[in-house]
Amino acid sequence: MSDQRAIAIIDSGVGGLTVAKEVMRQLPDERILYFGDNARCPYGSKSPEEIRAYSFQMIDFVTQFPLKALVVACNTATAVVLEEAQRLLPLPVIGVIEPGARAAVNATRSGRIGVIGTETTIRTRAYEQALLRLRPQTYVAGLACPAFVPLVEHHQQHTEEARRVVARTLEPLIREELDTLILGCTHYPLLAPVIQEVMGQSVTLISSAEETARELTRHASIARAGEAASAPGHLFFTSGDADNFRSIAEEWLGCGVKVERRSLEQS
Ligand code: SIN
Repeated sequence: MSDQRAIAIIDSGVGGLTVAKEVMRQLPDERILYFGDNARCPYGSKSPEEIRAYSFQMIDFVTQFPLKALVVACNTATAVVLEEAQRLLPLPVIGVIEPGARAAVNATRSGRIGVIGTETTIRTRAYEQALLRLRPQTYVAGLACPAFVPLVEHHQQHTEEARRVVARTLEPLIREELDTLILGCTHYPLLAPVIQEVMGQSVTLISSAEETARELTRHASIARAGEAASAPGHLFFTSGDADNFRSIAEEWLGCGVKVERRSLEQS
């Protein structure tokens, strides 16, 4: 009998679509259940208590469905709740920070790595700790970029305004002579062409999406090849505007998606 359990992907908004796209590419037979908390995005400027409460509301929602794994596809939420979620849930729970750090350590030649993320992600130093665990001599330059997520959530990543904001924000990193830059927020790959132009072609951009999807394939309970009986019917939920979510998702994923609106606000 085919396995109907889904891989749940949760994020504060559309950023986790970068992970969803990689999961679809590496594990094409798997069904994805996505929840984006667009109504309360961004998480990066919220308190750890709010981030924890919102993340567990998403987890409570997706765990009503039969699941084989959960991906916390938000760096901010990963930094705050990953360990607790891994302790509490009886299924594999994967975050995006460790996979991103591993990909950066594999890519760097000079050992000078930059990390850009939300205020919370940078403040927790979660990437720095992961990088130093993997490669103790690494030089790490972290920078919070709070203006980036709203650009992506409002579908403005292709505008001249986006180019101006990215150039102004990344200026302090230009003189750091980095050879690798971690896009430490799952929204940022949607701004990758602009970030690459500003940082220069010699800097390797790292998105944790690819490595996170690879980590899923390592779990024995996932990706038993050829098991799916039919094409997977992915499900996308957002707490925000379904039409805005759909247009960003269809552009990024390159296919039609069905989106339902679900509020997580507690009454
Ligand atoms: C945010 O909601 O502020 C960004 C999500 C992330 O950190 O990946």
